Amino acid sequence: MRIINDIQALRDYVREEKGQGKTIGFVPTMGFLHEGHLSLVEAAKQTTDTVVVSIFVNPTQFAPGEDLDAYPRDLAGDQAKLESKGVDVLFFPSVETMYPEGYSSYVTVEGPITKALCGKSRPTHFKGVTTIVNKLFNMVDPDKAFFGQKDAQQVAVIQKMVRDLNMAVTVVPCPILREADGLAMSSRNSYLTPQERQDALVLSQSLAHARDLVEAGERNSTKIIASMVDKIKQVDYAIIDYVEIVDPYTLENVETIESDILIALAVQVGKPRLIDNMRLEVAPCY
Ligand code: PAJ
Repeated sequence: MRIINDIQALRDYVREEKGQGKTIGFVPTMGFLHEGHLSLVEAAKQTTDTVVVSIFVNPTQFAPGEDLDAYPRDLAGDQAKLESKGVDVLFFPSVETMYPEGYSSYVTVEGPITKALCGKSRPTHFKGVTTIVNKLFNMVDPDKAFFGQKDAQQVAVIQKMVRDLNMAVTVVPCPILREADGLAMSSRNSYLTPQERQDALVLSQSLAHARDLVEAGERNSTKIIASMVDKIKQVDYAIIDYVEIVDPYTLENVETIESDILIALAVQVGKPRLIDNMRLEVAPCY
């Protein structure tokens, strides 16, 4: 596996691969890799010829007071994991490379899609995400880019950016990987104490509870959300950011469930704010 820090070296490498007729798969990450990240790498390996993974903890998607400085890092461990998966290139640029002095250009996706859900409590987050993903796409020039449904809003926002700006990349959404007990894998799970780790199961359990209600015929979102909130409040120190039922594409609230929905939640459990979600396919009733 080559490790590239320099933009021009990356461009030269990609041009050569493409010159040989190879397709490029790209997996952008912020590192501290777990099986969830590696499942994206596997999807890329299966469907493209050359796989590029980036590790860059992107300052512009963190607001002041968020966990930028504390964000967990383990380059040596990440390198070994990527190597074992047969990744071709690890792109690992510095902050100065990505945001040199005087940097002032940003890409924003406007509208409810970035204002809903995580956008409410993190109003500058998606501007940072779309800016860095756009920059990375310009550098890697991938045929396909792989993103996890764990961050369902991120996938929806990036798909909209790619569509709106006519970008020549196919965004491939990949399923959420979970621990055996249901907790969605996340680099931020490393902040949890053993007790919090146990209590954090309330996120996936409340989603499973919502699914049971929908499957039993409940179609009123307010009732389902209230029941999820009751469950989460059993962890008395958990702080709910949001629990919402939305359209999976526009992320606008759904009052009465008549077709596919995304149930999404963000809850602070101890130090970390954790997110999770579930897509449900609901057949319309005629
Ligand atoms: P990061 O949180 O490191 O996640 C990188 C990719 O891994 C994202 O597409 C995310 O959805 C996916 N991922 C994380 N946990 C997952 C899980 N349990 N199952 C499946 N996929 C999972 O998301 C980011 O970084 C950044 O915002 C980034 C896109 C790199 C831009 O900075």
